[in-house]
Amino acid sequence: MCSLLEVKNITKCFSKRLSGFFYKKKETFAALQDVSFSLDSGESMGLIGESGSGKTTVANILLRLIEADQGQVLFNGEDITRLHGYKQLYPIRRNIQAVFQNSGTSLDSHMTLEDIITEPLRNYNLPTKRRAEESLELVGLPSDWAKRKPYQLSGGQRQRVSIARAMVLKPSLLILDEATSNLDVITSSQILALMRRLHEENQTAILFISHDISAVDKLCTKKAVMKDGRIVETLRSLDLNEASHPYTRKLIESKMSVSL
Ligand SMILES: Nc1ncnc2c1ncn2[C@@H]1O[C@H](COP(=O)(O)OP(=O)(O)OP(=O)(O)O)[C@@H](O)[C@H]1O
Ligand SMILES: [Mg+2]
Repeated sequence: MCSLLEVKNITKCFSKRLSGFFYKKKETFAALQDVSFSLDSGESMGLIGESGSGKTTVANILLRLIEADQGQVLFNGEDITRLHGYKQLYPIRRNIQAVFQNSGTSLDSHMTLEDIITEPLRNYNLPTKRRAEESLELVGLPSDWAKRKPYQLSGGQRQRVSIARAMVLKPSLLILDEATSNLDVITSSQILALMRRLHEENQTAILFISHDISAVDKLCTKKAVMKDGRIVETLRSLDLNEASHPYTRKLIESKMSVSL
């Protein structure tokens, strides 16, 4: 049986514009180099690493928001690396959803929560009756808030609405990119608990991108560590005895010193 997601030897370069007094020069640099990993159905994997190491670029390639220069992404065994346009991506987008750090703040302020949450269902011609109420309850918000608008909610509540919207199609893969980063500690831990529950109840596979390695440790069974566009190590537990790469060891040691 194939994995839900197989990422094979992905490379992505961006151009870096160098401006001098008399010249403008373009240079490219590799944001991702030979990145490979796989994720099984219902599995949760964390992607950790310093800022600029390429985590969001991985997410954007999986979501087909940008295209890889080299390598392959297989989803349910199908090569989705070079799919283009609405028609080709339509069936894939139903099964891969994402929540970003600013997802809550970018909700359309003119729409009601009901319209926001059920929009993906309408895009796929699926029934919407009572789905907004059910989804609100699922993410721990009152079901009678369906007619409210985003500006009437706090940041944490809006982020819950984003999760409800991402989960409404019951995707097989949910990508969470720093989805709890701008929230206070309590809201963030409530949302993490919610994700763990949604993950367990729906068997949704999760790719959890975060700087919070304690959260990654709690939520994910597998952890991939990125540095300078490469996955330097994949491990089951963020434990010094298991880590072999010096950067992973440094990350774990920094986590231990913070929790002292
Ligand atoms: N569209 C783009 N054009 C040019 N460079 C880009 C683009 N997107 C990302 N980069 C660069 O690629 C590198 C990886 O960026 P990426 O956003 O993937 O990092 P990250 O690991 O998600 O960082 P953070 O933890 O800060 O979110 C960075 O050097 C970034 O500046
Ligand atoms: Mg990022």
